[in-house]
Amino acid sequence: MDEPTKPAYAVTDLVLDEWGPGREADVIRGLGTDIVEIVRIGEMIERHGELFLQRVYTDQEVAYCQKRASSYQHFAGRWAAKEAVLKALGTGWAKGIAWRDIEVVSLASGQPRVNVYGAVKELSESAGIGGYLLSISHCRSHATATAVAVGNPGPGDAESAGA
Ligand SMILES: CC(C)(COP(=O)(O)OP(=O)(O)OC[C@H]1O[C@@H](n2cnc3c(N)ncnc32)[C@H](O)[C@@H]1OP(=O)(O)O)[C@@H](O)C(=O)NCCC(=O)NCCS
Repeated sequence: MDEPTKPAYAVTDLVLDEWGPGREADVIRGLGTDIVEIVRIGEMIERHGELFLQRVYTDQEVAYCQKRASSYQHFAGRWAAKEAVLKALGTGWAKGIAWRDIEVVSLASGQPRVNVYGAVKELSESAGIGGYLLSISHCRSHATATAVAVGNPGPGDAESAGA
């Protein structure tokens, strides 16, 4: 049997390391963006310290940000990333969702990846979302993030695409 032809628009290889039959055409299922003032995140860290960090960020996220010279920028970027993922998911702050259900991990290159847990994982699975693409940017005043939810085509996709 011939190998499936990888369509130019597939984003599988950006989300998963696998490519093969059944993963021919991941579809975009959502888009989300957020912007946050870095001073606001800095104030929350200064006011609430460890309690705030532990409620919002995973241990790996805290370790990444605290290693950086301008740590508030990186914490703010991750805050924006979590909000952007919730927008891409489409539910926003639905019941049962916790900040730490969304984790940003950084590859050696610096490129951010998203892990989801708990309620966000469950809601993503029910929405046919297999992963999220993420981009973060920050300057001295603001941090911003954009997330794209991607998933495999479901039974209804061919009909809705008019096929
Ligand atoms: C990626 C790059 C274009 C970022 O641009 P910038 O204007 O300096 O910084 P921005 O504020 O816009 O973006 C910073 C964010 O870019 C993201 N980023 C960093 N490297 C990235 C990469 N290779 N691919 C995609 N995103 C990347 C990160 O999420 C980072 O924020 P974080 O550290 O809080 O996670 C630039 O840093 C670059 O070319 N880096 C490659 C060389 C390098 O410095 N590598 C260091 C790792 S060895």
